[in-house]
Amino acid sequence: MADNQPKKTFKTLRSLSMQDKVCVVTGAARGLGYEFCDAFLKSGCTSLAVLDLVYDEASQAAEELAQQNSTDEGEKIDAIGIACDVSSEESVQAAFATIKQRFGRLDAVVASAGIVENFPALEYPADRMRKLMDVNVHGAFFTAREAAKIMIPQGSGSIVLISSMSANIVNIPQQQAPYNFSKAAVKHMASSLAIEWAKTGVRVNALSPGYMLTKLTRTVLANQPQLKKTWENLTPFGRMGDPEDLAGAIVYLCSDASKFMTGSELRVDGGYCAI
Ligand SMILES: NC(=O)c1ccc[n+]([C@@H]2O[C@H](COP(=O)([O-])OP(=O)(O)OC[C@H]3O[C@@H](n4cnc5c(N)ncnc54)[C@H](O)[C@@H]3O)[C@@H](O)[C@H]2O)c1
Repeated sequence: MADNQPKKTFKTLRSLSMQDKVCVVTGAARGLGYEFCDAFLKSGCTSLAVLDLVYDEASQAAEELAQQNSTDEGEKIDAIGIACDVSSEESVQAAFATIKQRFGRLDAVVASAGIVENFPALEYPADRMRKLMDVNVHGAFFTAREAAKIMIPQGSGSIVLISSMSANIVNIPQQQAPYNFSKAAVKHMASSLAIEWAKTGVRVNALSPGYMLTKLTRTVLANQPQLKKTWENLTPFGRMGDPEDLAGAIVYLCSDASKFMTGSELRVDGGYCAI
């Protein structure tokens, strides 16, 4: 084929496009949330909201993502940062009101904001456990519910709740029972909401990563460098995941390529749960 001929675009690949889709990611100033935003922009999305606790961090991430993904053709990327604490229903409601006002619609929402802390169950401070549940479980629920309030009247939309392989297995050797059962709750939340909203055109799925190298895991590893080797040895691939390893999975779940998929869990864990 001559160089100046347009290359054929395959139909299946087109179904993975995020072009013309308004995308929202919570906990997106860094870590996996940031990578999900990047994956959407690299798949054609030009309307994006980056939600995180601190306005300046969310805005800076949005600006950086837009800059990194702008093309020579000058296509404008409308990426905004919004301060949002997912554990507060009012804060989530205010964020989605801003999104509706700015973009008028909503196509893909990823609930990625999450925290982890390790204590033996016998010593886990009750206030820390409540905080973890507020962010990981209630935060995912408030996010999905506000998203659905916009998507249901539209008759379409894809919601992805970030669970974890910890919803399926008990991590060793670190002790993190509340994190594990918070992620099991998130996984079943996705199935439960998916069934409740199945006739509305709104899909809900869970994405469950294995050990990925982000600030969250770096914090756990900071005082115990030998733990990384242990995690690598326990993972059949023999390594931790790079956040970029989730790009294909998130785009698949949020695009029309997965239009018959709802109430499912997609595990991307280097084989961890298979053994
Ligand atoms: N990193 C991993 O190995 C791994 C594995 C499985 C699942 N997960 C899940 O993936 C998600 C993202 O993890 P990560 O590794 O990117 O973590 P991270 O700590 O690198 O980033 C989390 C982001 O969430 C934000 N956040 C925290 N509390 C918030 C709140 N109340 N409201 C809004 N934003 C808040 C933080 O400011 C941060 O930007 C979490 O739900 C985590 O449980 C991570």
